[in-house]
Amino acid sequence: MKRALVIGASHSLGSALAGRLAADGWSVTGTGRRPAEEVEDASAFDYVRLDLSDNAEVERFVERAGGGPYDLIVHNAVTYGAMSGQPVPELDALETMFRVNALVPYRLLHGLLAAQPADRHCNCVVINSDSIYHSTPQTAGYAASKAALRVLTASLATLFRPAAVSVATLLLGPLPDPKKLENFQQVADRHGVEAAEVRRRFLRKANPWYVIDDLIDFDACYRSVAYLADLGPSANGMMCRLDGGSAGSLI
Ligand SMILES: NC(=O)c1ccc[n+]([C@@H]2O[C@H](COP(=O)([O-])OP(=O)(O)OC[C@H]3O[C@@H](n4cnc5c(N)ncnc54)[C@H](OP(=O)(O)O)[C@@H]3O)[C@@H](O)[C@H]2O)c1
Repeated sequence: MKRALVIGASHSLGSALAGRLAADGWSVTGTGRRPAEEVEDASAFDYVRLDLSDNAEVERFVERAGGGPYDLIVHNAVTYGAMSGQPVPELDALETMFRVNALVPYRLLHGLLAAQPADRHCNCVVINSDSIYHSTPQTAGYAASKAALRVLTASLATLFRPAAVSVATLLLGPLPDPKKLENFQQVADRHGVEAAEVRRRFLRKANPWYVIDDLIDFDACYRSVAYLADLGPSANGMMCRLDGGSAGSLI
């Protein structure tokens, strides 16, 4: 049975990816910050608590190779901590966001991939965001942390080229995450309109760079991860954009 690790599997997209991989026959370990009893679909995979803001915990996880070896590692975890609504968040909040979204994943993935046996190929898929192409004052810190993750991911691809490892980016447009859907419903209730109308306005008016009519569904994300995993060594250094063209066709 092939083994997969999903980092950030306790909620939303990560939990959907871990659940689908398990349903497709993978043996899946998923990590998250919250306790196991608060994890959606926890019975589908082995859940390990791992707080990426805790350096010692991350180092311990790396030391035991994250319970590997793995055939697939999906890095999905993210914090939106410093998207507080203030134009310029506090320095501490920005630093934490950079650590959790970029620096710790770099260190963590490097450690896990370096521990992979030479005779077992491992595909690593790092989830990124179209926000790196168009940030706003509210999202700038988040977008910059994801842009840093993108650069660090590319360097891992170069570093591990001679090894039995490939590192690819899956760059996503706006997802139907539970928080967004809840926000749409709240706005819809406040204005006495359908949530679908709020979603349409979110995509067309509030974010004029989106050229899509709907959010990027989790099934398409899963199929993209499965495709990258299936490519094996050819996926190294690849960037797969699933954003409906919202990032602009010439980039
Ligand atoms: N949502 C969007 O519209 C969108 C658009 C483009 C790209 N993306 C990308 O898609 C991915 C998933 O996004 P999402 O909105 O589904 O994320 P999410 O709901 O916030 O879930 C992210 C996961 O990261 C974990 N996490 C957060 N802080 C952590 C920490 N300090 N240590 C360990 N784990 C931590 C969460 O665990 P806990 O919940 O247990 O804390 C959760 O399992 C991210 O990489 C994001 O950048 C999202």
